[in-house]
Amino acid sequence: MLKVGIIGVGTVGTSVANILIDNKNIITARAGVEIVPTIGVVSNLDKKRDVSIKLTTNPDEVLNDESIDIVVELMGGIEKPYEIVKKALENGKAVVTANKALLAYHRYELQELASDTPFEFEAAVAGGIPIINALRDGLSANHIQSIQGIMNGTCNFMLTKMINEGASYDDILKEAQDLGYAEADPTFDVGGFDTAHKLLILGSIAYGLDIKPEDILIEGIQNIKQTDIEFAKEFEYNIKLLGIAKKVENQIELRVHPVLIPQEKMIAKVDGVMNGVSVVGDKVGETMFYGAGAGGDATASAVIANIIDIARKGKGSPMLGFEKQVGIRPTLMPKDE
Ligand code: HSE
Repeated sequence: MLKVGIIGVGTVGTSVANILIDNKNIITARAGVEIVPTIGVVSNLDKKRDVSIKLTTNPDEVLNDESIDIVVELMGGIEKPYEIVKKALENGKAVVTANKALLAYHRYELQELASDTPFEFEAAVAGGIPIINALRDGLSANHIQSIQGIMNGTCNFMLTKMINEGASYDDILKEAQDLGYAEADPTFDVGGFDTAHKLLILGSIAYGLDIKPEDILIEGIQNIKQTDIEFAKEFEYNIKLLGIAKKVENQIELRVHPVLIPQEKMIAKVDGVMNGVSVVGDKVGETMFYGAGAGGDATASAVIANIIDIARKGKGSPMLGFEKQVGIRPTLMPKDE
């Protein structure tokens, strides 16, 4: 049996705990071992939550508990989760996080620390879409020429409603918040920063570069008015917030901004909370990934995929017997590329 501690039992954490219980049989069969959500850390014990695991406000109850094998970090923010993830790794626990902001600033040092323990983050980019897996494994024979994607469900939900229903910016942002799509501080969504964090993660995997958030040009959707939407529609374009990483000669261009896209293009049809990511490889050509980019169950699906993978790798070895993690930290791109 593997025991899981969840730090942050909000929309996604609740789904992780419940799916591990609801889909226990199939998950056990695939993982080769039973995976039990055991304890969750929350900031407010009085808030009503739809989970049946023990809750505490003290992260040390998870981090110092030797029976907990896997820590799932879903609390959001940067510095506090950084300390928690660091301690979890130092204590020999596997870590799964969906925290893209944390990864944008601290991924490499945490991966250094995690040389003997798994540190996974499939849910950090594009919710339920296995895009990290695709870049690391499925497309690993290719030089990646470009990545272009709608990677923020909140912004896409808002733009779609503005396009289709003429709804007001403030009302739809509130709706996205009520549905649990938006970040605790929605400026991260509408300002394009969340998309930039995700682009940074994909770009660093695809190109083997240690990219910093400051390397990315970022413009959000705050200044888009209904008149812009109407104007675009008149010429059969949709406005989408894209994250774009492109190889241009010897350099990688990284930017996030609203883009006018002809309505017949596949990515222009990605609506609502869905995300769509196009990856062009030199051998495979264009590949397109589509799925829910935010929301509890979709994001939890990716978190649990990491947990199952960790369980498979650690099966039968002492202390989970984590295999040395190889091939995760990207090597720098050779100079002649
Ligand atoms: N706030 C994020 C979004 C959540 O709307 O896409 C998923 O990363």
